[in-house]
Amino acid sequence: MSPLLLLLLGLLSLIVCVLRGRRRSVRFDSGWFGREDEPPLITGWIPFIGKALEFGRDAHTFLKEHRKTFGDIFTVHIAGKYMTFIMDPFMYPNIIKHGRQLDFHQFSDKVAPSTFGYPPLVNRKLPGLHTEMFRTFQLLQGDNLGPLTESTMGNLMLVFRQDHIGEAPSAERGWLSGSMYEFCNSVMFEATFLTIYGKPASASRHSEMGGLRADFLRFDNMFPLLIAQVPIRLLRQTKASRDKMINYFLPHRMSCWSNTSQFIRRRLELLDQYDSLRDVDKAAHHFAILWASVANTVPVSFWAMYYLVSNPEALEAVRQEILDVLKLSGVDFSSTKDVTLHKDQLDKLIYLESAISESLRLSSASINIRVAQEDFSLRLDGERSVAVRKGDIIALYPQSLHMDPEIYEEPQTFRFDRFIQDGREKTDFYKDGQKLKYYLMPFGSGSTMCPGRYFAINEIKQFLCLLLLYFDLQLEDGETKTTADSSRAGLGILQPTADVRFRYRLRTV
Ligand code: HEM
Repeated sequence: MSPLLLLLLGLLSLIVCVLRGRRRSVRFDSGWFGREDEPPLITGWIPFIGKALEFGRDAHTFLKEHRKTFGDIFTVHIAGKYMTFIMDPFMYPNIIKHGRQLDFHQFSDKVAPSTFGYPPLVNRKLPGLHTEMFRTFQLLQGDNLGPLTESTMGNLMLVFRQDHIGEAPSAERGWLSGSMYEFCNSVMFEATFLTIYGKPASASRHSEMGGLRADFLRFDNMFPLLIAQVPIRLLRQTKASRDKMINYFLPHRMSCWSNTSQFIRRRLELLDQYDSLRDVDKAAHHFAILWASVANTVPVSFWAMYYLVSNPEALEAVRQEILDVLKLSGVDFSSTKDVTLHKDQLDKLIYLESAISESLRLSSASINIRVAQEDFSLRLDGERSVAVRKGDIIALYPQSLHMDPEIYEEPQTFRFDRFIQDGREKTDFYKDGQKLKYYLMPFGSGSTMCPGRYFAINEIKQFLCLLLLYFDLQLEDGETKTTADSSRAGLGILQPTADVRFRYRLRTV
């Protein structure tokens, strides 16, 4: 963060502190100070910023260390907000089902419009829009998943065939070298884009895709600051990239695209019913969906590919499972022909699914947020309750669960079959001898749970199927282990600290 921004935030904080100073129960060695029924409060010495910098550097370690001192529930002062962390996974169900006193949407309803550049949805001038837009999420699930999956398959095959497989006979193709993140990003970004928004009228691909990806990256790099509510006008380049991407979705452009998903067609129709929305406002909604659909899917694809390529036995087992499922349907795979895997075939790939779940477990660092609507006593389990103040944030941080050695033996290790038991998906995970209701939460929880989760898993499965079927894959010699960059903790899937060099060659089958 630049010194100017820190100074601005500091000044803002002083004003906020003077206007609405608060006292909490602060822990001293001799005991507690303040309201006893409130969780202990952890504050920093910098006004307003509080513990934001320490938390931002490595949220998982920060919470683990503070849990040792303060127990399973504590409040942390972060960038002007009071965030109460619930660290005991047996308390999660009570938070996830909590009724009118905890609002799931207030935080995202406030932050998303300024980040993506559309007017707030909860707005008298836009009656019903919030509810209707929420309803469109159903078009990513259930029966709608079939057509989406077929379309993804075609688009992935198109990008693979034109960019990586080519028409040459396999014997003539030697090893090619690539950067793994860049590879996943170029394939998944474009295939997702084509599946959701469609293709231009007179071509099978959008010629501006490279530019769009570059602008997306520039915007996404500053995403943590935007979510922290730093005004975008202070980030000139980020604003320019966002404007370019929004302009790509202007109605006169989108109306020329074909093969657009039912999900986006419904959203176009809906947005058109509101005269008070300008064209750029409508376009900004489509841009927000682009971010939601690729910002996490790309890094998960990377981690799954990286772990499989780094573990050749796991890769071979998963590849064999895919070949077996194809064979069961009467398909003898050949790298000279295009392949299709339908939704029911993808559902049978349980080892592949387990490898993806394991990659999600190792790389996901999202935060689940609810905002208290009034001062009230929050029941945590049969015995415990804590006092919560109106406006406070109640937060679950599932990375603590994903990395708990009591739940997952050797939690830092990738085990591709961790989510398989007796030839089926494993759903029994225990802590303190008790079965957990929630043990893997990369997609959030409750009513704000990711509506694109089934589509995302199918898409990642399809990507990995094509990769493993068509290519021999290896890490480049001397390539060292990459790690997850914790600086985006709280925002979803972590990215790698550095890209990884790998080589790939068309398989001779
Ligand atoms: C592996 C990939 C993905 C991961 C890990 C992921 C994760 C998440 C998470 C953690 C949330 C917030 C949940 C909460 O606040 O509790 C979310 C929300 C959302 N996701 Fe995903 N997501 C993925 C892929 C997708 C895809 C492919 C789409 C769309 C095509 C999508 C669309 C959305 C939308 C629209 C929301 C906002 C929902 C709302 O406003 O209630 N996501 N996602």
